[in-house]
Amino acid sequence: MESTGKVKRGQASENEEKIIASTENSMEEKMCESLKSHKLPDYLLYTGVGGAKNWLKLDGSGTFPVARRLKDFLEENIASVVRFIPAGMSLVSVGVGSGEKERILLEELIKKNLAERPASEKVPIIYYPVDINSQLVDLALEKARDLPVEKKGIVGFIEDMPLLKEHWRLPVLFSILGNTFCNYEPEFILKLVYENLEQGDLFFFDASLLPEPGPGEDAQSVRKSVLGTYASRENALFNMYPLLQYGMAPEDFDFELLLSHVDSRIGALCRTRKSLNILKDTEITIGSETVSFREGDVIRMGFTYKYTYDQITALLDINRFDILRAFLSKDGENAIFLAKKRT
Ligand SMILES: C[S@@+](CC[C@H](N)C(=O)[O-])C[C@H]1O[C@@H](n2cnc3c(N)ncnc32)[C@H](O)[C@@H]1O
Repeated sequence: MESTGKVKRGQASENEEKIIASTENSMEEKMCESLKSHKLPDYLLYTGVGGAKNWLKLDGSGTFPVARRLKDFLEENIASVVRFIPAGMSLVSVGVGSGEKERILLEELIKKNLAERPASEKVPIIYYPVDINSQLVDLALEKARDLPVEKKGIVGFIEDMPLLKEHWRLPVLFSILGNTFCNYEPEFILKLVYENLEQGDLFFFDASLLPEPGPGEDAQSVRKSVLGTYASRENALFNMYPLLQYGMAPEDFDFELLLSHVDSRIGALCRTRKSLNILKDTEITIGSETVSFREGDVIRMGFTYKYTYDQITALLDINRFDILRAFLSKDGENAIFLAKKRT
């Protein structure tokens, strides 16, 4: 994934600034190149005005509860989480989306800062909502508008973390929320974060876990429940959005979801894999380009790891992170981790 590397600054409103570390101008080109090679990586589901709406619709839907449950779980545990975050840290949240979870976090961080430094009028927090979608950065800034912290939105890719970090003031609480951690190869994301955090920074993320089989349940029923969450019509439409946007009809292709095991340094891990199966010869036009599909073509999409709690702690350990605090929901399906680089 490339970014322009250009940095543009704009005043979003008083006391707010938006930095464009990569632009969406070439997203159409990327969409075209990807589809020509029968690939549709997840970030392309979120681009442009349509992409922002696509995500917000899924996030709000009753049948796709992943992000909503993680939000409820964060809300329940926020006071305990914040106890372990020193006052005066900046908040960087990448893949911020609507910024709902960050508002919950900021409100509690502000309370803590005010309680610890009652004499100071200003709260020394800078909030950096980061997303590839500029509209979502605006929405996250808007969500935090009335909070007494400095704000700097950044439009950019997490993969460009070395470029993004030039813009933030240390120390940072570096967050990736809404199950984003599980949408990357574990060794890739943990190496990226490790290499770009400084001593004194903290790493904060959540995860929607692989459910433990209940009494009388077997691995097969667990698989069914995972597939059920991701195979809802709302999630299928979310994943089909780019092809629908370029004029294909829902009956021209199928959304398929598989659950498989992949090898890793800590043993077999469970992972969903998505694809779009073309059912009819079709041509779509993207800008000035035409992309053709034949019946039987398969467009490979992104994946989501379904980890157990112990697998995440093992991954953090071998990638040289120490857990400061971790929370596991009673039903075992949601977890939150606050970690730091091992010294
Ligand atoms: C699953 S949503 C989670 C949104 C939000 N964190 C939440 O919990 O509701 C993923 C978010 O990451 C953004 N995103 C996708 N790929 C990205 C990338 N490579 N770098 C930065 N943000 C990305 C999307 O635009 C979207 O807002």
